[in-house]
Amino acid sequence: MTAWDALAARRAGVPVFAPGHVWLAGAGPGDPGLLTLDALAGLQQADVIVYDALVDPRVLALAGPQARLEFAGKRGGKPSATQADISERLVALARAGHRVLRLKGGDPFVFGRGGEEAMALAAADVPFRVIPGVTAGLAALAAAAIPATLRGVNRAVIFAAGHGADEDFDWTPLVKAGQPLVLYMVMHNLERIAAALMAAGLDGDTPAAVIASATTPKERILVSTLRRISAAAREQKFEPPAIVVIGAIVDLRERLIGETGAVEKDSV
Ligand SMILES: C[S@@+](CC[C@H](N)C(=O)[O-])C[C@H]1O[C@@H](n2cnc3c(N)ncnc32)[C@H](O)[C@@H]1O
Repeated sequence: MTAWDALAARRAGVPVFAPGHVWLAGAGPGDPGLLTLDALAGLQQADVIVYDALVDPRVLALAGPQARLEFAGKRGGKPSATQADISERLVALARAGHRVLRLKGGDPFVFGRGGEEAMALAAADVPFRVIPGVTAGLAALAAAAIPATLRGVNRAVIFAAGHGADEDFDWTPLVKAGQPLVLYMVMHNLERIAAALMAAGLDGDTPAAVIASATTPKERILVSTLRRISAAAREQKFEPPAIVVIGAIVDLRERLIGETGAVEKDSV
């Protein structure tokens, strides 16, 4: 029995992509092995795939031969399509009777503006389905052998964006929670945010790590402390996309990897 048959036998079949519908799907962090089977079903059935810059080419290579690929992200300094343009495009493609796969890096509803797109589709009465994806915050931690939670170490994980409209964001309540922080889109502001976290009371010796391009051939991992992380990332030329994790869970990496580096990996 194939994986598809097994899936179909356990629920009402593999989902069928109807013309005029939009599937808002997560492409995961990079490694195509982290796609959901429903996202793969979308790739194979879609007429048009509207994708973002962070969608890995290995994922796009799984598109069916009938699919037309449309890029909707930022590239090469050219002005990117606005969010309103993208939402309008999705509505127009669906109204023209296409099966539209809107493919976004990670999970579409985690710092991915999938919420806005879903709202625009709902407002336009376009039928849509949301397919979650493995978000970079979790995939990067797994790639770096850092458990997101461990009994006795932490009982919550805080996902936060390191850039946004509110540059004077108050980090104090997050620091007071005493739980690890997993930061997205933080590389350009890392020095300022690390300083803000220390000013809010977080110890500069708190373990911190940067995981760049997790689950791709360019994956790189840096382990340091909150005080040093920004300078170390700069010295070692770490580039986005990257996740920064700050908290005691970072120290668990050493215990998992040990001296042998015995964590199995084949995607990078
Ligand atoms: C606009 S957000 C999109 C997040 C996405 N929706 C998700 O759930 O992962 C882009 C940020 O996600 C993170 N990111 C995405 N892919 C990544 C990867 N392969 N490795 C590390 N960080 C990644 C980076 O922080 C990047 O700046």
